[in-house]
Amino acid sequence: MFTRTYDDRPIPQTHVRALQRVSQSWGLSPADHETASVLEVGCAHGVNLMAMAARLPRATFLGIDIDPNVIEIARSRAAEAELANVRFEVGDVQTFDVPSGTFDYAIAHGVLSWVSEPVGVALFGLFRRALSSEGIGYISYDAMPGAALRETIGLGLRGLETDDVEQVRAVLAALHADAKPNTLQGAWVHSEVSAALGQPASFLEQQFLSPHQRALAVTEVWDQALAQRLRFVDDVAETGVPAAALARTVEVISRVAPNRRAAEQLLDAAIYRQFRASVFTRSARPMAHTGMDTQPDPGGAQVSARPRVLPLSRVEARSLGFVSTPDLGHRTLHPLHAMLVEALDGTQSVAELEALVVERVAQGHLSLPTESGEPATAQEAQLGASAVVASALNDLAEAGILLQAADS
Ligand SMILES: C[S@@+](CC[C@H](N)C(=O)[O-])C[C@H]1O[C@@H](n2cnc3c(N)ncnc32)[C@H](O)[C@@H]1O
Repeated sequence: MFTRTYDDRPIPQTHVRALQRVSQSWGLSPADHETASVLEVGCAHGVNLMAMAARLPRATFLGIDIDPNVIEIARSRAAEAELANVRFEVGDVQTFDVPSGTFDYAIAHGVLSWVSEPVGVALFGLFRRALSSEGIGYISYDAMPGAALRETIGLGLRGLETDDVEQVRAVLAALHADAKPNTLQGAWVHSEVSAALGQPASFLEQQFLSPHQRALAVTEVWDQALAQRLRFVDDVAETGVPAAALARTVEVISRVAPNRRAAEQLLDAAIYRQFRASVFTRSARPMAHTGMDTQPDPGGAQVSARPRVLPLSRVEARSLGFVSTPDLGHRTLHPLHAMLVEALDGTQSVAELEALVVERVAQGHLSLPTESGEPATAQEAQLGASAVVASALNDLAEAGILLQAADS
């Protein structure tokens, strides 16, 4: 078992509303996301599942992970955020005794490319058992051919037999310095390595020191799914060259490919795909694209008299330094926003929040920037508090982090 700390984030394309819409756009009849039963496998600290659970109170969620440490953290955050509709269990994909046919949606993000082949096969078996007859599964993975170089660098770095991420960084930095971006291969190494060097240590560890990390061909994954009678519906992440830029190739593929399996593999070669986030179904219904719009409706934004956020948002601000948004995005918080989010339990008026900001500045617990670049004095904070708080609350409202009157 590989158990390094993983900084999980909410993953927008795993939202059950998005999975429902994509499946419906292919003529399927998935369960209503508002009341669905949802399983996440390899859920880590449960950040993704909790961001959904807090906003879908009539749906139920179960997260499993092999690592007891992350499950303990997930459970304690769920309790702190007062979430009664989410549970977390320690469980191994290969042995987890899932209640059969009871889940409308099953999600495994960032798992298939990080586990051994038998565990990957077991993942599809688990989805098959867990999903209801119209159930929808989401599985993401690093794809061939775009992720092949990353896999090769990882194979080399694992050969160092080190746990030291600084050694990984040193090798990557040398590769970066020596790569000749004016050659085809050098440009590939350069762009791949510079993206990796910008990532935190936890990412580098997972990406390059995890014993199983690998890129998979879509046909390989498709065959594993079909062995469990799970059919491919669609992909919900675009990576590589936009297919629209390759009109001639797409036209020829659609003419000569005998089936979707062959067409998808050729398309991945053409667009140089790096990553897939694929939706599968247990349903036996015929599938045809209906042309239905898969985008959710945009919500409105208003600041109420006693602004309020979800208890989960306050836990996220305190423990994670970011707050999830309703579309499963996330916002990294400026200290002012973080302070406000923690205070937004719906008991304080906007005037009281302004007074709180002034008090924190006077106590030296909060620093507000001024035009001169110097931190605001207590007197300047007093003068500017109303504008600063109004602007921060508007930001939070626009990001969907402030609850609206209808969200009670
Ligand atoms: C790369 S992390 C991805 C975490 C999270 N889903 C995300 O995308 O941020 C992979 C997760 O899968 C879990 N995992 C690995 N092998 C597993 C297994 N056999 N059964 C259940 N979980 C496993 C790890 O503990 C880890 O939390």
